[in-house]
Amino acid sequence: MTKDKLTILITAGPTREAIDPVRFLSNKSSGKMGYALAEAATEAGHRVILISGPTQLDLPDRVDFIPVESAADMYDAVEYWIGKADIAIFAAAVADYRPVSVPDHKIKKTSDTMTLELVKNPDILGSVRSSFHFQGVLIGFAAETENLEDNARGKLERKECDLIVANDVSRTDIGFNTYKNEVLLVFPDRTEKPPKDSKHHLAHVILDKAIDLQAP
Ligand code: CTP
Repeated sequence: MTKDKLTILITAGPTREAIDPVRFLSNKSSGKMGYALAEAATEAGHRVILISGPTQLDLPDRVDFIPVESAADMYDAVEYWIGKADIAIFAAAVADYRPVSVPDHKIKKTSDTMTLELVKNPDILGSVRSSFHFQGVLIGFAAETENLEDNARGKLERKECDLIVANDVSRTDIGFNTYKNEVLLVFPDRTEKPPKDSKHHLAHVILDKAIDLQAP
């Protein structure tokens, strides 16, 4: 039976990986796509659990907001909340690596060069099926600069998703920190190309696809 009110978990924004108490590694994600998805979902009457790294955005009304900083924090929050979700959408730009060790004091500039050793962060989306045993609808994003569809399809299979929303981040007119976006929707059995549109409208398109996947 189809539920009218679904619980939708959304990850959004960048993560910050501490280098020392006053510095971090991060990326250019604004969080706009994830927040647009959260707004579209609450407008449609669904419950939203928004797990977000730091952004400059206003919080959409009526979301359950779980603020996080690092990829490790986001992993823990997803592990805790995913069991409540019918649909999970991973729009966060998670830092792939973090510094191996973080001193408790500010690093001083004692030499002309400095090497930062990094270690891979956990793949949160990639853990959702295999480690958290999530059975709901799973949607990921892929930010690519080449072979958009092939790379997105690889992620769809590896991370056991129902849909990958693929962005060409080599284009400056769409994607990171812009209001408009053009995406490919890569499903296991097909690829769709909706017209270039505002992130707000695309959020509704993606949400409708998610709901169709939930109750075909
Ligand atoms: N993602 C995640 N945890 C990570 C890295 C990525 O949950 N540690 C999620 C993102 O939120 C996105 C999807 O995985 O939904 C794809 O992220 P991307 O960084 O493009 O993919 P990777 O698998 O890390 O591949 P690569 O960096 O090799 O392109």
